[in-house]
Amino acid sequence: MIFVTGGAGFIGANFVMDWLRQNDEHIVNIDALTYAGNLESLSSLQGDTRHIFVKGDIGDTTLISKLLEKHQPRAVLNFAAESHVDRSIHGPEAFVQTNVVGTFHLLESVRTYWDKLKEGSKTNFRFLHVSTDEVYGSLTKDEPAFSETHRYEPNSPYSASKAASDHLVRSYHHTYGLPVLTTNCSNNYGPYHFPEKLIPLVIVNALAGKILPIYGDGQQIRDWLFVTDHCSAIRRVLEAGTLGETYNVGGWNEKANLDIVHTVCALLDELRPQQDGNKYCKQIAFVADRPGHDQRYAIDAQKIERELGWKPAETFETGIRKTVQWYLDNQEWVTNVQSGAYREWVEKNYTV
Ligand code: NAD
Ligand code: DAU
Repeated sequence: MIFVTGGAGFIGANFVMDWLRQNDEHIVNIDALTYAGNLESLSSLQGDTRHIFVKGDIGDTTLISKLLEKHQPRAVLNFAAESHVDRSIHGPEAFVQTNVVGTFHLLESVRTYWDKLKEGSKTNFRFLHVSTDEVYGSLTKDEPAFSETHRYEPNSPYSASKAASDHLVRSYHHTYGLPVLTTNCSNNYGPYHFPEKLIPLVIVNALAGKILPIYGDGQQIRDWLFVTDHCSAIRRVLEAGTLGETYNVGGWNEKANLDIVHTVCALLDELRPQQDGNKYCKQIAFVADRPGHDQRYAIDAQKIERELGWKPAETFETGIRKTVQWYLDNQEWVTNVQSGAYREWVEKNYTV
């Protein structure tokens, strides 16, 4: 039995489904179901007794402690977070609350549980914290990719709150001996990605005849990884990672935002051509830049490759085609996710 937090979000839901495709070890999935949590993403698991969903906050120590006592997991994997940079600019408090205070409470609940475990279970227990490359800050065009020893230089309230959570996790290993592992991953894309983030936003807006908003000049670079490759990296780190270590996870796929948007448009032109013959890239519009916009992220994934033998299975070409096709095949998921709260957020972000 393992615990997953934030398992109704984009990466968490993909992880839960992927995990149960690989083996029968049960999962208790604890998610607060914020705007980003969507149980519909897990509908394929309805009636599957291997998956137990609990609506709850990682900061609720009473609930988490009760669940830990009851289910006695061998590992806790922490995906739960506020994850959108633009939202952290408009309202940083929720980020501090969940990513910092929430992670702290979760660590406290887990430490209390772990302290009482019998020797074998105690040694085998793992707390795996899912983090981001954004904690390392921004690179110039020619700087080497982020390695695990790159210093922390977070630039947004989001990345600062994730950096703080990484430090807390590290400190629980050094101070209390809690067996922790941390992964710092680059930009994910794939099915069930909430359409506030670049790739799903562009697919959804293109199909709806809306603008495809490019912040600034669109030359910022991100390093893209298909979500199931992130999931396999997490499984591998959980299985064989060295305690107290961090592992950078990335796809060796650096792309400028504008190129990403053109790639998505070209795929849509091929897979869902417009009846009037127009190309989707005509909808591209350059809009105000993100404040403090990081110029470039790039992950040096040599450590996880060398020490744990992990490599991504998808290329960007195969992954992005699967992603676009998934959104074309799952329009209902998109419609349902676009609740009132989501619409309000889009208005706020793109009108101020
Ligand atoms: P997401 O926003 O899609 O999902 C987050 C999930 O956490 C949601 O289901 C939400 O309901 C839940 N949640 C939020 N606050 C909670 C709380 N207090 N208690 C319990 N549940 C709560 O995020 P995502 O893109 O799936 O990211 C998951 C994790 O991976 C995050 O920690 C993020 O920082 C990290 N990460 C994301 C990316 C990426 O490209 N998306 C890359 C690297 C790392
Ligand atoms: O690097 C990992 C991080 O990747 C994760 O930790 C975050 O949780 C995740 O949201 C993501 O952060 P980014 O800020 O890189 O992702 P986003 O999809 O928001 O933006 C990708 C790039 O596209 C970024 O340079 C901003 C730009 N962008 C984004 C949106 C939403 C646009 O140009 N227009 C847009 O409308």
